[in-house]
Amino acid sequence: LQQVPLFQDLTAAELETISPLFVERKYKKGTILFFEGDAGDEFFLIQSGVVKIYRIDNSKEIILSLFREGDYFGEMAMLHKGNPRSATAETLEATSAYTLVRAEFQQFMERSPKLCLRLLEVTAERLRRANEQIYDLTFLDVRSRAVKTIVRLADEHGVRKPNGTLVDVKLTHQQLANMIGTVRESVTKVLQELQEEHILSIDKKQILVRNIDALRAMI
Ligand code: CMP
Repeated sequence: LQQVPLFQDLTAAELETISPLFVERKYKKGTILFFEGDAGDEFFLIQSGVVKIYRIDNSKEIILSLFREGDYFGEMAMLHKGNPRSATAETLEATSAYTLVRAEFQQFMERSPKLCLRLLEVTAERLRRANEQIYDLTFLDVRSRAVKTIVRLADEHGVRKPNGTLVDVKLTHQQLANMIGTVRESVTKVLQELQEEHILSIDKKQILVRNIDALRAMI
């Protein structure tokens, strides 16, 4: 747990107190961890894998965030007793997570100001990002939103390769559309254009950004 950013400021003694409280769970790809509206009594910290946080309306879906190793989620329903889950969480790959029940999470927060500060920091960052999403969805066209989403994916999930930055999550055009807030056909068109411009290439559902500077210059 020491490697997890959320716990980076904790002392060895503090870490020793919380480590045994976590229960390790393994989930197959495509497992729903909880639904929007459920009562929430668990906090999740990802050890490996990818989790999609989304909201759904009839058959339309908007992906709010993708989380990976070291990221956590499910804190909102825990911090506010009356609130149900604000979104649905589903694994995009086989995922292993450490889970913590409400009573223990709260107990630990009460004991550790450092942990509270770190949680606030992450919450502020997520709010900033959500504001960005509101702005993008309100003011930007589909191509600009697609470009911004790919830059974000490269920044948050990118692995450096000799020929560019590989987005380390497999995403279908439909899933990308659900992140951008558009239809699949529009994503296919933009990706085609960006490939023709030699800015990126796609192999086995993974995006390789070949020219991140050119992509950034577009937004
Ligand atoms: P909770 O409401 O308990 O369950 C859904 C979780 O998804 C929520 O806690 C947060 O951890 C996470 N979440 C919800 N909305 C966002 C968002 N806009 N950006 C990042 N994470 C979110």
